[in-house]
Amino acid sequence: MKFIKVKTYEELSHKAALLIAAQMTVKPNSVLGLATGSTPVGTYKELIKMNQAGDIDFSTVTSVNLDEYVGLDGTNDQSYRYFMNDNLFDHVNIRKDHTFVPNGCAEDLKAEGEAYDAMIKELGGIDLQLLGIGLDGHIGFNEPDEFFTGATHEVVLDESTIEANARFFEKKEDVPTTAITMGMMSIMQAKKVLLVANGAKKKEIVEKSFFGPITPKVPASILQLHPDVTVIYAEE
Ligand code: PGA
Repeated sequence: MKFIKVKTYEELSHKAALLIAAQMTVKPNSVLGLATGSTPVGTYKELIKMNQAGDIDFSTVTSVNLDEYVGLDGTNDQSYRYFMNDNLFDHVNIRKDHTFVPNGCAEDLKAEGEAYDAMIKELGGIDLQLLGIGLDGHIGFNEPDEFFTGATHEVVLDESTIEANARFFEKKEDVPTTAITMGMMSIMQAKKVLLVANGAKKKEIVEKSFFGPITPKVPASILQLHPDVTVIYAEE
């Protein structure tokens, strides 16, 4: 594991964007695994700047997102499809039909999960997976549990996740209680993983995840078994 400690969120965003840009440069048809949440927003801003400056090209990139709330469709401004359009896709030259987010409105979520995993396999797997980390150690929406789940699956969100995400909604009751998330299989099979964590509030969970025991109670700890992980942690 490469652990990069920086001082500020700006440095984190810049370094993460440089690593993603490097991936796109060496493999223009990369499959990028993308993440939502507040942490990657600065990284996406940097990527937009680089794209607009002509330094990186998204036209041959495919993206697969980690997760989506159940019951929110892409027109809902709290959905992760909307987030991705708003924070990245609408501002770069990516082909929208090459961007994938699990469908949280699918009638059969199990079938949706199977189709999502099959699609990732068909694409040849993920070249670089960008991850945030939840205060409870979740990656994607893989919450602490008794076991790790491999496949893309429906999850019940932890109270702490609902509370953490309530800031984006008008009221806490509006936060969906379930989601569909990529499981550990596609994440662990990604050729490279880049995890970004911002601020003192994430210090403890980052330490537990990367320097503590590997356990499904701390989902991100499974990344200790991945051969190519870079963690960028901003202290402030
Ligand atoms: P955050 O979320 O970037 O908004 O802290 C991270 C996550 O829950 O995965």
